[in-house]
Amino acid sequence: MTTRSWAEPWKIKVVEPIRMTDRRERERAIRDAGYNTFLLRSEDVYIDLLTDSGTSAMSDRQWAGMMLGDEAYAGSRNFYHLERAVRDYYGYEHLIPTHQGRGAEHILSRILIKPGDHVAGNMYFTTTRAHQELAGATFHDVIVAEAHDPRSEHPFKGDVDLAKLSALVDEVGAEHVPYLSIAATVNMAGGQPISLANLKAVYEFAHSRGIKVILDATRAVENAWFIQQREQGQRDRTVAEILFDLCRHSDGATMSGKKDSLVNIGGWLGLRDEALAAKARNLVVVFEGLHTYGGLAGRDMEAMAIGIEESVQEEHIRSRIGQVLYLGTKLMEAGVPVVRPIGGHAVFLDAAAILPHVPREEFPAQALAAALYVDSGVRAMERGTVSSGRDPQTGANRVPKLELVRLTIPRRVYTQAHMDVTAESVIDVFEKRERVAGLRFTYEPEYLRFFQARFEPVGAAGIFKDAGAARAVETAKA
Ligand code: F0G
Repeated sequence: MTTRSWAEPWKIKVVEPIRMTDRRERERAIRDAGYNTFLLRSEDVYIDLLTDSGTSAMSDRQWAGMMLGDEAYAGSRNFYHLERAVRDYYGYEHLIPTHQGRGAEHILSRILIKPGDHVAGNMYFTTTRAHQELAGATFHDVIVAEAHDPRSEHPFKGDVDLAKLSALVDEVGAEHVPYLSIAATVNMAGGQPISLANLKAVYEFAHSRGIKVILDATRAVENAWFIQQREQGQRDRTVAEILFDLCRHSDGATMSGKKDSLVNIGGWLGLRDEALAAKARNLVVVFEGLHTYGGLAGRDMEAMAIGIEESVQEEHIRSRIGQVLYLGTKLMEAGVPVVRPIGGHAVFLDAAAILPHVPREEFPAQALAAALYVDSGVRAMERGTVSSGRDPQTGANRVPKLELVRLTIPRRVYTQAHMDVTAESVIDVFEKRERVAGLRFTYEPEYLRFFQARFEPVGAAGIFKDAGAARAVETAKA
C-alpha cells in the first residue's frame, strides 16, 4: 500500500451531544430566524459551520490553564504569560489585551485615524472597515485582481497590488494614509494567504512613504503554513519561524485570538512603538478595561497564552488546514463551484455561480445558506452583498464581485465524518439549485447588517420554491 491517511493529532476526552432536527422543524426555525443563519438558535443546528471564531475546542492543557487564572484587577500573572507568548511568537514588544479582535481594531482606529484619512488594504473585513469608517477614514481595496476571481488558482490571492497601492498613495497623499491594513490570511477573499515576499515589498514601500503597516494577525498562523507549503525557499522553515518573520514586516497587529489561538474569547493589539502603545494603553482603559486585562478574565489570558503555543505546532496546523482541504476536495470533485484554491479556515461556495437565476439584489448567498440549513441542519454564513453593506456616502448597496457562502471549520471540533455529511448535503442542494428562491429584506439594521437582518423569500412560501409540493409528495409516499 502506498497511500497513508492522516488523522487528527488529538483524541476526544469530552463530548458535547448535538440535537438532531427534522426538515419541518428546520423550515420553521429558518423562517423564525428571518432566513438569517446568525439568528438561528444553536440548539436547532446540527453541524455548525457559521464561523471558526471562538468555536474551537480547547486542549486539556488550556482547560488546566483556566484553573490558574489570577483574577487580580491589576497586574495578573496571566497577563505576563500572554505578553511573553505574543513577544516570543509574534514579536510585538507591547501588548494591549482586548475582549476580542474588534476591540483592538477600535482602539487602533481611534489612535491612528483622523477624519478624512484613507486606509488601504488587501480587501476589507467587516468589523475592521467598520471601525476605520467610524473613525472617519475611507477604506480602499488594493488586493491583486485574482482575489476577486473565484476560479483563479493564484497561490497568494491575498497579495497586494503594489501598482494600485502606489497610485492610491500618490492620489490621496501619503500624509493622509496613516497605515495600511494588511490581513493574513484574507477572510473575505476565501481564506487566501499573502506571500512573505509581497508583505516585505509592501512594508518597504510603506516605510519609504512614512506609512505604517498594521497586520490583521487573526489567521496569520494559517497564512504561515501556506507560505511554508507554497512559497519558494520556505519549505525548510517552521511555521513558527515564518509567523515571526511575517510579523517582522509590520509595525503592529490587531488580533482575534478566537481563531488561530484556539480560545473562545480574547484578542489583543500588539505594537512596537512605545509612544503609540502608551496612547493605546490609555484608551483601552476607557473602552475595554485596565491595560493588564482589557476586558478578559485572567483565565482567558492564560488559555490564550497556551493556545498561541499550540497553534504553531506543525501537526496541528497540518491537520487543521488538511480538514478544510478534505471538505473542499469532495465538493470540487462533485463539480460544486467553490473558491479556489481552498483557503485556510473555510470552504467558500460560489453562490453567484450556483444560483444564476437569483439576481444579486435577491442575495443568492443568503438564500443558499438558508437552503443548506433546511436541507440538513448545516449552518453556514453569507459573505456577499448582505455582508458588504451600503456605501456610507451614497447609501447604495455595495455589490462585491464575490458572492459566497462560507462553510467555516472550527478547530479540533468536528471529525472527517462530519465533513462527509456536510459535503453530501451541499451536493444535494447543488443538484436541486433551480428550486432555491431569492430573498428580500424585512428588516435592515444600520451597522454590520448581516448579523441581524431579516428576510423573506421572494414569491415563494419557503426557501425552496416548491417546498409545499415536495412535502405533499413525501407525505403521499409515506
Ligand atoms: N479580522 C478578521 C480577519 C476576522 O475574521 C475577524 C472576525 C476579526 C478581525 C474580528 O475579530 O470577531 O474577535 O472581534 N471574524 C469572525 C468570522 C467574526 O466569523 O470571520 P472578533
